[in-house]
Amino acid sequence: MKILGDVFEHDRIRIAGNFIYPGYVVMCGARNAMIDCGLNILGPRYLASLRSLLGSAENLSHLFLTHSHYDHLGAACYLRRKISSLRIGGHEKIESLLVKESVRRRMADLSEIQRAFFPDVESDDVSFEPLALDLKLFGGEQISLGDLHCDVYAAAGHTADSLAYFFPEIGALFAGESIGVPEGKDASGVQVEFLSSYDDYVKTIEQLAALEPKIVCMAHAWIFTDDDARRFFEDSLRATVTYRKMIETALDETNGDVDKAVELIARREYDEKGTIFQERNAYLMNLAAQVRLIAGKKG
Ligand SMILES: [Fe+2]
Repeated sequence: MKILGDVFEHDRIRIAGNFIYPGYVVMCGARNAMIDCGLNILGPRYLASLRSLLGSAENLSHLFLTHSHYDHLGAACYLRRKISSLRIGGHEKIESLLVKESVRRRMADLSEIQRAFFPDVESDDVSFEPLALDLKLFGGEQISLGDLHCDVYAAAGHTADSLAYFFPEIGALFAGESIGVPEGKDASGVQVEFLSSYDDYVKTIEQLAALEPKIVCMAHAWIFTDDDARRFFEDSLRATVTYRKMIETALDETNGDVDKAVELIARREYDEKGTIFQERNAYLMNLAAQVRLIAGKKG
């Protein structure tokens, strides 16, 4: 099944904050975990959800980050300030990125663009700051959490610091954007998300598909289960190859000019089709990275 996050029900998995920017809470008995924490401006909303789901936010023992993008780790600094016992795990590159003031400012600016969509979120200090990770993860770790455990997988390709979290006892995979993102109103398409490496991205999809997860909690909005979970990996691989060909065609049409190829693709795919719900500036930034990667591989 393909289930929208706002109607998804599972006795072990809950959604904190907002289903478009989900903080997936895995109920593990004594030590509960959350995967990702969306936009910084939604910080108070994640906190309110945690209090209502867990009785006290202090009952969240771990926050795992899938990668270093503003819409996945946004509220990590806020939650660190609010939950004294919280242990935060993620790729070590996240630490070195958040040390940079320019990166923190860019993340805050990108989040601020979304504020109009969330007018009722309580205001609080949601600023970014350097973030010390309690668990520096690389993939290969096994983390015991109450009556479940979490296997960590390196999942490079979307970003070099992407990680995936798999809970084998419940067959649930949280892979952020490392496997692509469902696209369109009925999630029939796949938004292709390689930004740091095309080859790593393909390898990551293949490796995570081999886990045969029963539940794939997508980076945004959707949860796929059973056959739809299995098919998503196949669709994502196919879409990735098609997407690469589309970029190569645009580069051919613009004589290899990366900026013009980006403009051409944005007009056709974003403006004319209208099926991509990502904020336009973020879309353009990602597209430019993808076109640069493929341009570098050509010839
Ligand atoms: Fe991302």
